[in-house]
Parts: sequence; structure tokens; C-alpha cells
Amino acid sequence: MTLQAARTPACAGGPQDSLTAVPDGCFAETVTEIEHYTDGLFRFRMTRPASFRFRSGEFVMIGLPGERPMYRAYSIASPNWDDKLEFYSIKVPGGPLTERLRHVQPGDVIWMRRKPTGTLVIDALVPGKRLWMFATGTGIAPFASIIRDPESYEKFDRLILVQGCRRIDELAYAASLAAQTVDDPLVGEMASGRLQLITATTREPSAITGRLTTRLADGRIETAAGSRLDAESDRAMICGSMAMLNDMRDLLRQRGFVEGSNARPASFVIEKAFVG
Ligand code: A2P
Repeated sequence: MTLQAARTPACAGGPQDSLTAVPDGCFAETVTEIEHYTDGLFRFRMTRPASFRFRSGEFVMIGLPGERPMYRAYSIASPNWDDKLEFYSIKVPGGPLTERLRHVQPGDVIWMRRKPTGTLVIDALVPGKRLWMFATGTGIAPFASIIRDPESYEKFDRLILVQGCRRIDELAYAASLAAQTVDDPLVGEMASGRLQLITATTREPSAITGRLTTRLADGRIETAAGSRLDAESDRAMICGSMAMLNDMRDLLRQRGFVEGSNARPASFVIEKAFVG
């Protein structure tokens, strides 16, 4: 089914068709672009409401119009200066939202709740020299926002983005993201020579084979970065599955890192990668 663009005023509600009446507290936005990377991964962009503000790294709830809309938390992958909103998604087989979302086309409408939130924000970290971002799978999405935000380069000398996936083809989004960022007219110059992407795969061999946790513990990731991950000078963000968060959190704590929050900034922050 192709959903028709419903440019009703955001949150207008009212006696409209149940497929197009925008629920209270939601924006109705239009898909502008969609790109599929593998059978299981895709990215889409949509219009951004003029009044919508967020901090790079935050997430929002999005859903598709329908009689019983299903909302899921999605990290915003675009930076806060972008006039579009970008999201990076897994296709969950049988998933109530992603099985429909994977078929969206430019012109389709997506509902988005008005309030962004999240802890993967620079405000939740105390100042440091290097920012390490550890992601598995679609956990890279909030970092796609952060590495394209000039403020990240004002606050840190270096940004080190580390992504772990099962297979090499799942790293395509990260590779194009890093290439685009260093070419970007706004942040390219700042990012050049200061943004580093390190990738690892677990189910086929690549430059670094193994889980991020294993390769952090044995020093392979630090060797690739050319720097030690040091609680005194470095800050870290983690986004992945619950198991990955728990294991990474233990590793960072062993190295003297302290978990922070918006209310109490410290040396690392975590967030679950939501869909999948
Ligand atoms: P593995 O292939 O060994 O399970 P998924 O697609 O299941 O979300 O996994 C994404 C990546 O995260 C995979 O490479 C997976 O490795 C890895 N992973 C899963 N659990 C952990 C964990 N506890 N710590 C680090 N990496 C993990």
C-alpha cells in the first residue's frame, strides 16, 4: 500500500480519515529519499518540521499512518543543521513497523512524535580530547548525527567511530557516511584528518575480525586508532544491543570510565540501539 501524502497541519487531529488524521503530539512528514544497503538495512530521509529542534545524538518516536499506528524509537542520523531528517534502520522480519517502513517511497507520510530525547549527547560528557563512539549494527545512527555536527569538532580534537557488524556489506552505510562527512562543505574541513572510522566484522574476515569488546580488550582497536582509550583524556559513547552495552560498559568501567547522563555529565554514555 502506498500511503498518500497528508499535509495536514501537524497535530491538527479532527474528523478526518483514520489513515491520515495526524494524532495529537505528532508531526506528519514526507519521505524524500530511501536507500537500501542490504536485505536487512536501509536509510531514509524525510522533511523536517520548521519548529523541530534536537541535539545531535537524540532519538524520536516514529510511526506510519494507520488505524493502529505502531511507534518505535529511532535515533536521528542527520545532524541538527540539516533541513531533512535521516534515519538508518534494520528490517526486522515480521516486525510490525519495519516490515511496512522498508517499503516507503518518496512522497509517503511518516508520523513523528514532537519530543526528541536521549543520552548520547555531548552535553552528557565532561570535556575531553578524543571522543570514541562504539556502535554495533544500526547503533551507528546517533553517531552519524554527531560526526556531522561542527560542535563535535569544537569540543574534541579527534572523533573515533568504531562500528562492529556481522558482515562486510553491513558496513556500507558507515563507509559512505565517513566519506561524505570529510567532503561536506560545512564540516569537511573540520573532519578531515580528525575523524577516523574503524570497523570490525564477526562472521566474515576483515581488517579487524571479532567483536568490538574482544578487540578493545586485546588492544587491536587502539592500535588501529593509534591512541590509547584513556579515561583521563578520552570520552566514549556506546550504542548497540543490550548484551553489547553491558559488556562494553564493564570494559570501560574497568578502565576507570564513569557513566554520565544529561543531569550528571561524566566520561561515557550509553543508549540501546532501538529497532532490532
Ligand atoms: P556476533 O556475530 O559474534 O554475535 P546483531 O546483528 O546480532 O545485533 O550483532 C551485531 C554485531 O554485534 C555482531 O557483529 C555481533 O557479533 C556483535 N555483538 C553481539 N553481542 C555482542 C556483545 N555482547 N559485545 C560485543 N559485540 C556483540
